[in-house]
Amino acid sequence: MLDLSALPPSFIWGAATAAYQIEGAAAEDGRKPSIWDTFSRIPGAVDNGDTGDVACDHYHRWPEDVALMRRLNLDAYRFSVAWPRIFPDGVGQLNQAGLDFYDRLVDALLAEGIRPFVTLYHWDLPQALQDAGGWPNRATAEAFADYASVVAGRLGDRVADWNTVNEPLCVSWIGHLEGRMAPGERDLTRAVHTSHHVLLGHGLANQAIHASAQLPANVGIVLNLSPIEPGTDRPEDVAAATRADGHVNRWWLDPVHGRGYPADMVECYGVEPPVRPGDLEIIAAPTEFLGINYYFRQVVVDDPAGQAPFARQIPVPGSVETAMPWEVYAKGLEDILVSVAKTYGPRSILVTENGSAWDDTVEPTGDVQDKERTDYLEQHLEAVRNAVLRGAPVDGYFAWSLLDNFEWAYGYDKRFGLVRVDYGTQERTIKASGHRYADVITTHKRSRDSVI
Ligand code: IFM
Repeated sequence: MLDLSALPPSFIWGAATAAYQIEGAAAEDGRKPSIWDTFSRIPGAVDNGDTGDVACDHYHRWPEDVALMRRLNLDAYRFSVAWPRIFPDGVGQLNQAGLDFYDRLVDALLAEGIRPFVTLYHWDLPQALQDAGGWPNRATAEAFADYASVVAGRLGDRVADWNTVNEPLCVSWIGHLEGRMAPGERDLTRAVHTSHHVLLGHGLANQAIHASAQLPANVGIVLNLSPIEPGTDRPEDVAAATRADGHVNRWWLDPVHGRGYPADMVECYGVEPPVRPGDLEIIAAPTEFLGINYYFRQVVVDDPAGQAPFARQIPVPGSVETAMPWEVYAKGLEDILVSVAKTYGPRSILVTENGSAWDDTVEPTGDVQDKERTDYLEQHLEAVRNAVLRGAPVDGYFAWSLLDNFEWAYGYDKRFGLVRVDYGTQERTIKASGHRYADVITTHKRSRDSVI
């Protein structure tokens, strides 16, 4: 029995996607390459050599996708704007055709009563800006603010809700330190510089959106967070867990909440972030909400021979794992929501992503009976409910993802969608988990005291 009656009546029920993962149309209407177009062409960088060239063809099929959102009873849809559609060279010449696409999408959403949540940066940096130095270069943060201002100026008469940057951890650590995502660099100094410029970009975009949007804007950064636990009681492992927490959580949460960069992590990296006077104030300026993406907890041990933060994630014996393979641990969502609420006191939290990949089987009828994804969804909604009962101000939940899509370095093999996409035909089929989500939403909306 899933009892979500503790969630506020105004709770926002949504689903999320990102431009490069679903749009396709990589060279249409003036769009030029992003770093993901480049990275996905490096042999071995992406499983099966997959690229986002076609993806879910959402650029052409968006009316059908908006109709699917309606069938799922969504209140809200979180999507990202592709910077290289708006400024194909990152700066300079504005491409009206790119803005027109999002203009039409926003109008269609509003016509269906679906609230648009716009993410401005979900990893598709224009390649021209990468060629000019990328995120390690401060000018990229300034270019991001200019782009944010233009998009908010055009859509901000109808869009109230804005995410600046999605998952700076992935941009900085996975893209510039581990090299597993675009641009595929492995350089700690450039990664630390990236982290500061991405956060600065967030702060500058926060200012730009509030200045340019006509509607009162709700702005927030989106952080992917994980509760961290030591694998043993050994002091080395406990210290490793503190460093991993610094690397994954505090490096982002502290500066955004006015605490500056954590000193223990600056020492651990041995690299000072390139902070100029005033930067930390810009980064810490108030926002209307904090977006949290949650997928898994991390159990870690000391790893002195590894790279910063010298902590290695270990598998949890007996745990259930998704196809990624990531441990299913719903309590981690409750814990991170409660601890962030207590430690940092954000005025509102949105779970901006949560979901799971499974090896779906398609029945002869075309149906997908994805019990694992349905169970995962229900367990994590209960975790949100528990966090609310423990005082966390959680005002919405966005399932990742609306559609199966391009899962970055894993290509199309990993399916997170509530809706199946047949990549041969582009046919969409709502999975059992999608039907269940629609029922949950309907029931919650029908009665705040409901017991489902
Ligand atoms: O697909 C990604 C998304 O782009 C960012 N957050 C995590 C998801 C699953 O890996």
